[in-house]
Amino acid sequence: MTVTKAQTRGFFVGGTILFTLVFIGLTLDTHAKLAHRTRDDPVTEHVARGLSVWGKFNCENCHTLMGEGAYYAPDLTKIVSQRGAPYLKQFMADPSQFYSEQEHGRLMPKLGLTEQQIDDVIAFLDWVGRIDLNGWPPRPIHVQGSSIRGIPGVEPTGGAGDLATTRGKALFYEQAACASCHAVEPGRRLVGPSLAGLVGTAEGRVKEPGYQGKAHSAVEYLRESILEPDAYVVTGPAYGADGKSFMPSHYAKSLSPAQLDDLVAFLMTLR
Ligand code: HEC
Ligand code: HEC
Repeated sequence: MTVTKAQTRGFFVGGTILFTLVFIGLTLDTHAKLAHRTRDDPVTEHVARGLSVWGKFNCENCHTLMGEGAYYAPDLTKIVSQRGAPYLKQFMADPSQFYSEQEHGRLMPKLGLTEQQIDDVIAFLDWVGRIDLNGWPPRPIHVQGSSIRGIPGVEPTGGAGDLATTRGKALFYEQAACASCHAVEPGRRLVGPSLAGLVGTAEGRVKEPGYQGKAHSAVEYLRESILEPDAYVVTGPAYGADGKSFMPSHYAKSLSPAQLDDLVAFLMTLR
């Protein structure tokens, strides 16, 4: 079969029109979604002030947001949902309360931020954390050389144990990011206490005279610790302030009942 000149021209013109339309369509689609995807609508004055704090103190010379910046200190894209605002407030006022240079390798300097500036920069980081990034980053990013503080790359999740325990372990290390605040090795304090020997700890807690919560057994105590961190705040160097735990309070909403069961099944292996 031979192609005539007229057919060739037809292909050319038809193809050009078709792909021009596709291009225009995609461009319009992108523009329609841009405001939603970049969340430029809810930029309040509070958030804007936070951005200028971020700039003024050169946070980006050490940290990254969405992978942009310097790789000296941890990425902060999702830090507000991972850590919770109460902890971040205390941390930024004086980072050395939480980490030591000897043990963790790198420290954030005390920047001398005012309470207002801390509040603003948290509002900014919270706004950043809500940008729809299609699930990126899939797990907390850590920086080589800086303290890993229990933020593992990928903890093997397969292998030993039943299915619930395996799923619970994956939640602990990845989706729920518990491991960014809790180590499971004895004596290793991150933001929160080490969970080594947790079952024994939990059994002891509910019998302590000072215990005010509602749990009567280890399992109940673990559920309560996750759903209502303020019910009992472990006394320690800097685990909470004014009776409020630094552990985020969103798990009651962000974990499904099945996920909570899996997580507790995993925690019950920490003997
Ligand atoms: C000179 C480098 C440097 C600068 C500048 C800096 N940081 Fe940091 N930051 C660090 C390091 C290092 C860590 C990790 C701390 C550790 O491991 O002890 C850190 C940790 C953090 C954390 C995480 C705490 C945690 O427990 O996960 C937050 C939040 C944070 N910085 C916010 C900020 C903000 C906001 C600014 C700017 C106002 C800023 N940082 C400026 C070096 C820096
Ligand atoms: C932002 C840091 C942070 C994150 C994230 C976090 N925790 Fe905690 N957690 C703490 C702190 C701080 C305490 C101690 C204060 C208290 O009792 O609430 C604590 C206490 C606990 C306790 C009680 C320990 C004891 O000795 O009685 C358990 C159990 C626990 N966390 C489990 C979890 C699980 C499971 C997750 C993930 C779903 C998680 N935590 C996520 C900071 C965190």
